[in-house]
Amino acid sequence: MRIAVGADHAGVDLKEAVVDWLVDQGYDVHDVGTFDHESVDYPDYAVKVAQAVAQGEATFGFLFCGTGLGMCITANKVPGVRAVTCHEPMSARLARAHNDANVLTMGGRLVAPGLALDVIGHFLGEDFSGGRHAGRVDKIVEVERRGGSS
Ligand code: RB5
Repeated sequence: MRIAVGADHAGVDLKEAVVDWLVDQGYDVHDVGTFDHESVDYPDYAVKVAQAVAQGEATFGFLFCGTGLGMCITANKVPGVRAVTCHEPMSARLARAHNDANVLTMGGRLVAPGLALDVIGHFLGEDFSGGRHAGRVDKIVEVERRGGSS
């Protein structure tokens, strides 16, 4: 499975820890950067990862900034992306099971690497439940198709 990852300067250390773990687990990792602590703008990285997922080049995307929030807001502007910010395992599992989330964002200033890897493991370990949740996700897609208008 191919996973796209990206970070700004505030998330790069957490990204590096996650990339090491993903490679160890056998995932094919597409890392769009950043690669050091020089200040950069999170939307530039969020859009690259979001587009990789939306275009089917990666199954999932993981994005890291200071809080995870700017990355999440930006990624959700790309049609086809359902991005969530999760900092504990239960919401990560339910984001996959109920929301068919395909991008996970986290805050490098908020979570330690050990917890982040636990959250990511739960996200990757859960499938979309379908059933009643499929109709709800279809409604999200329909809102997106209408450009947000009712
Ligand atoms: C950068 O200082 C910070 O604003 C950014 O990493 C992120 O937390 C934004 O949502």
